[in-house]
Amino acid sequence: MPLEPPEAQAVKTLTWQLDGRSSRSSQQAPDGAAQPATAPAAAPAAAQPEEDPDLIGLDIWPASIALCRYLTNHPELVAGQRVLELGAGMSLVGLLCAALGAQHALLTDYEPQVLAHLQDNAALNSLQQRCASLRLDWRQPAASLAPEQQGSWLRIVAADVLYASAVVQPLISTLRLLLHPEGVALIGHQVRRAIVLDPATRLPRLEDEDEPLEKFKAACAAAGLQHRLLSSRETCSNRDSDPMVLLAVGGPQARLAELPLLPSES
Ligand SMILES: C[S@@+](CC[C@H](N)C(=O)[O-])C[C@H]1O[C@@H](n2cnc3c(N)ncnc32)[C@H](O)[C@@H]1O
Repeated sequence: MPLEPPEAQAVKTLTWQLDGRSSRSSQQAPDGAAQPATAPAAAPAAAQPEEDPDLIGLDIWPASIALCRYLTNHPELVAGQRVLELGAGMSLVGLLCAALGAQHALLTDYEPQVLAHLQDNAALNSLQQRCASLRLDWRQPAASLAPEQQGSWLRIVAADVLYASAVVQPLISTLRLLLHPEGVALIGHQVRRAIVLDPATRLPRLEDEDEPLEKFKAACAAAGLQHRLLSSRETCSNRDSDPMVLLAVGGPQARLAELPLLPSES
């Protein structure tokens, strides 16, 4: 079946309704024209114990729209590839990869209530033949994937997964386990900086750095993974939300320098 041109691609997802009674259907355009189903202002909480459901993935987070916009402009990065999505949530990004021609998209998350939506979302987009879902917990990634799947992924995508310092090391371990030596993970990230009281002025101000992002970049280097920023705050932000960055993480033989940068939106 011929694919629609990328600019015509849109992905439908079921997302959580805040009154908790039911889900609703939304349509997200990768060009960012559609607003996220909701755009929560605060950073999500860190991963919860398994007995306490972690429902942050039942919403669509703005970083996923930023990553979708990049992929829509560069469908060649995923066309024909096996793609694995980490922390998929409603899987806007993974579903878009399938719509852009990925050979197969493996949509993973650790929360059963999130995973329960993924096949429905694939079916809503007639992508069920090319998508599968899998419970994969970054704290125990080897438990989910057969040995032949490990070290085999040339393309991994993830949006808004670096939201707390506690997830940095588990994510690094997961990427190390899954990435092919030439593999590339494309990560959409929403910059979040803590508000601190300036000791000199006694006024509140934003911290200079996004702590989880900085820790993640340092941990990549320590783990033998390459990383490269594909955007800057100026070139990648959704209107009316915090700045976004796109980060590429590569195995030791990945050619990150060949990846296209996100152009300025001037
Ligand atoms: C902020 S949400 C982002 C969801 C989606 N990628 C998006 O951008 O809309 C973070 C996602 O990471 C998942 N997650 C958190 N901790 C995880 C873990 N230890 N293993 C796997 N997934 C995890 C959550 O269930 C959630 O779906």
